[in-house]
Amino acid sequence: MFCPVLIELLEQGCTVGKSGKVFNSLAALSTRSNLETIHRLMLHLAPTRTLEVGFAFGGSALVICAAHQELGHAPEHQHVVIDPYQTSIWDSCGLVGLDRASLSDFVDLHLVQSPLGQRLPVHAIIRTRRPATVRAVEVGQPINGPADGSSPVG
Ligand SMILES: C[S@@+](CC[C@H](N)C(=O)[O-])C[C@H]1O[C@@H](n2cnc3c(N)ncnc32)[C@H](O)[C@@H]1O
Repeated sequence: MFCPVLIELLEQGCTVGKSGKVFNSLAALSTRSNLETIHRLMLHLAPTRTLEVGFAFGGSALVICAAHQELGHAPEHQHVVIDPYQTSIWDSCGLVGLDRASLSDFVDLHLVQSPLGQRLPVHAIIRTRRPATVRAVEVGQPINGPADGSSPVG
């Protein structure tokens, strides 16, 4: 994995929020395997804009924003993240991590409820360069969709 802040998060298994609140469990953090899949998807699809529902500790946001950087995209708040609880329950941990990784300018956070939140673990929606195409990516599914051939969008 290529983002030092994310590596630290995965290896330490704990983190500290903006107000100093200590999180000794990172159960809400995506797994290393899921994060590696998202990284591969980003490089494969090279999307110009991305959307994530559910921020928590910011694992996927770190991968997605670092991949935007890796793809040579200038930071222009192209990763939209929706999570009503980032500044309350999560004590801004995701934002703190992005700031430490100097990736904040890639993110556009909306502190609102998404109806998609009820469909978690649908996790990241990636809009490709083709304007009409919106792909919902369920983490754990292969890049070309589920093995049974059904749509990962549902
Ligand atoms: C499993 S965590 C997200 C993990 C994160 N994407 C990562 O990569 O580590 C689920 C997140 O969904 C958020 N959430 C729950 N209901 C939501 C809703 N209706 N809309 C948006 N976010 C929601 C929670 O606050 C929590 O941060």
